[in-house]
Formats: sequence, structure tokens, C-alpha cells
Amino acid sequence: EHLALWGGRFTSGPSPELARLSKSTQFDWRLADDDIAGSRAHARALGRAGLLTPDELQRMEAALDELQRRVDSGAFAPIEDDEDEATALERGLIAIAGNELGGKLRAGRSRNDQIACLIRMWLRRHSRIIAGQLLALASALIEQSEKAGRTVMPGRTHMQHAQPVLLAHQLMAHVWPLLRDVQRLVDWDKRIDASPYGSGALAGNTLGLEPVAVAHELGFTNVTNNSIDGTASRDLVAEFAFVAAMTGVDISRLSEEIIIWNTQEFAFVKLDDAYSTGSSIMPQKKNPDIAELARGKSGRLIGDLTGLLATLKGLPTAYARDLQEDKEAVFDQVDTLEVLLPAFTGMVATMQFDHDRLEAEAPTGFALATDIAEWLVKNGVPFRHAHELSGACVKLAEGRGQELWDLTDEDFIDVFKDFLPADLAPQVREVLSTEGSVTARNGRGGTSPARVREQIASAKSLIETL
Ligand code: ARG
Repeated sequence: EHLALWGGRFTSGPSPELARLSKSTQFDWRLADDDIAGSRAHARALGRAGLLTPDELQRMEAALDELQRRVDSGAFAPIEDDEDEATALERGLIAIAGNELGGKLRAGRSRNDQIACLIRMWLRRHSRIIAGQLLALASALIEQSEKAGRTVMPGRTHMQHAQPVLLAHQLMAHVWPLLRDVQRLVDWDKRIDASPYGSGALAGNTLGLEPVAVAHELGFTNVTNNSIDGTASRDLVAEFAFVAAMTGVDISRLSEEIIIWNTQEFAFVKLDDAYSTGSSIMPQKKNPDIAELARGKSGRLIGDLTGLLATLKGLPTAYARDLQEDKEAVFDQVDTLEVLLPAFTGMVATMQFDHDRLEAEAPTGFALATDIAEWLVKNGVPFRHAHELSGACVKLAEGRGQELWDLTDEDFIDVFKDFLPADLAPQVREVLSTEGSVTARNGRGGTSPARVREQIASAKSLIETL
């Protein structure tokens, strides 16, 4: 079998150890459909160049159709001796079309330009599936944001109560990165929209084949501009791997949030039974496994990216066999995301927030201290002093085990006495509500209900364009 591919100068076939090392059909067979599509386009290019007669082309296309049927039904599959998907498919074609005709298809192409083209075709198709799944997740988060209405929750920095925010604002903070991931895929697709077919092994082909027609038949707008680059670069595969890893990280951040909100101590959110798991020993347990798996799988998505980058780092610039290692990395990422995203979206779409608890917790931990300082600024106090005065209120309340709104009129009059008249000081109470606090944050991008409504509308119209 191997002698069929490169018999000429060899006196023996590969050793069994080499064959085992070299073999890639166990992972690259999933490129078979794209390879057959490429072969059809290539056969027509050979026909146009006069290297296949019209009759031969017709028989070649019929043979490729039959090969596709056999692949679909499982009647044809790689065997132990096939090095890669291309080797296997050539064997399958020859079995159908005979040695003479089947042996003509390889003219003017190399497995180098072939495989470089196939990985692009395969990734482009799956990037669209993943983009669709990401938009579904973004939409589920937007729906939750709409359902959240004006519910206020504790906004945190360093995990400490910082300022109250709308639950919708917090949820929408996860929508934007996901939409950027989709935008990255859309943008990446413009760059990967070029076919390397016709590059040959590295230098192009001598047979007068038209790469443009082949590119168009395979769904590409362009042909790669340089045959060495076309066969040897994998930066576009790595760029996809980055977006996949980034998506994993974005989902992991949301997972961590959900896991914390779902603890007994927080109790901000309840997960639906259908999207939670139990314990084999502890009957009371209900675990957020989807979020944990998402957080965990982000590690392997990052690993796939770094592994691929390390593979590419030291390569001389034309095809080297190292490049075979590009595939498992992105196949793993795609498999991971395509299974993870629908489950994750289901969990997000069905989670139930405890609005009363979120509202009750929102102002605690002196989360309105910034509002006091900013109220003072509006009343003419320089911020440096306003910060100090508000801090003094916190100190006073904390010392008594109280919250800011428990301070008396006399307390405020006393703390503010160097800056404000006594009749004005107690009016600070008007900002000591979460509603007042969030409504006041009405600059573009802020957490006021009006701005959040505007934000949700922008996200929805962006989704329409993606
Ligand atoms: N299976 C290889 C890959 O996935 C393509 C074959 C190239 N082989 C070669 N000897 N040039 O990259």
C-alpha cells in the first residue's frame, strides 16, 4: 500500500514502528468529506487543463460520488495501513475507478496543499456552528437581564461589596465578551477565506491548474498569495485556537460567578434540576457541575492553544511533518465547545435569581459610601474631603455595628460640620437607597435602569448584524 504513494525510490515499506507513529487516520478521518469535495474541484481543474478527458472527468466524478456514498455508509473506512485520510481516500478511489483513472487525481497536488486547505474548510464550517451557539448563549443572558428588571444586587470589586448595580448590568457584563468572541470569529473568517489548493508541496504547480476556480468551488473567495505560506503557515489555525481559548475563559469567568452565587452562603441563584447533578453519597447535594465543567474545560482549551503555538514556534518555513499536530488541538477545542455551549446555555436560561435576597444584600457592607462622597461633591465639598467625610461615616457606623442609613441626623450634622450647614447635612439620606444610587449612575455604560435598557437594545441590534 505504501509503495502506491512513494514506491519509486524505496526498497522497503515503512517499519511497523514508523507506521504506528506516522498514522493519523484515527483523528483526521473527519476531514474525509472535505477531502472528497476538494478532489471533485481538483478533478475539474485537471479537466479544464486538459489532463483529464471529458469522459475521464465524468467517470472520476461518478467514482468520487460512489466514494462519498461508501464513506457515508461506513462501507469504506481507513485500514491499519493507511497513513492518513488522503492515503485512505486514494485507496478507496482506486478501488472504485481502477488504478489507471484513480491514479490520475494526484497530479498537480500534494498532501501539503490538500491538508492546509482541508483544515481551513473544516474550521470555517465549525466556527459558524460555534458562533451560532455563542449567540444563543448571549441571547439567554440577555433574556435573563430583561427578566431581572430593576433588581439591584451587590456589585463587588476584590470580591468585597463595592457599589450596588443592577443584576441586569452584571449579567450583561458577560454578554459583551461573548459577542466579541463572535466578532473575532467573523473577522477571522475574512482572513482564512483563501484556498491553498494549487500550492502543491510548496512551490506551486506546473500543470496549468487554476487555483481560483478550485477556491470558489470550495467556498473560498480568494487563493493564498504565496504557495509556501499557503502550505506552511498555521497562524490562522492558531488564531482560531485563541478565540476558542478566549471563549473558554469568558465562559469560565461566568461559571465562577454562578458557582459562588449558587453557594448556601450567597444563595443568589438556584439552578434548575435538569441542569444540576446530585451526589452518590450525600442525598442533600445539588451541584453546579455544568459551570464546574466549563471552568475546568477552559484549562484544556488554553492547553490546546499553547500546545499548538509551541509546535509552530521553531519550524522552518515550508511544510514539515510537525504541522500534522495542528489538527488534534483544534478538533479537541471544537468538540469541547460544541458539547459544552448548549449545556451551558440551558443552565443559564433556566437559572432563577432570588430577587429579594439580592435587593437586601445590595446596600450592605457600606456599599453606598461612594454615593455619600459624590453627594458631598455635588454640594461643593472637594472630593478629597468628601472621601474622608464619607469614610468617617463608615467608621462611625461600623463601630456601632450599624449600616450607613442607621446614622442619625445629628451624626451627619456632626461629621459634615466643617463643610455643610446643619440643615443641609441630613439631606444626604436621599442618596442612601440602592434605587437612588443606581439611578444616579446615568452616564453612558452606567448601571442606571435607563442606561441598562439602552445597553440591552444595543446588544440585541448587534446580534442582528452578526
Ligand atoms: N498528514 C499530513 C498532515 O496532516 C499531511 C501529509 C503530508 N505528508 C508529507 N509527507 N508531506 O499534515
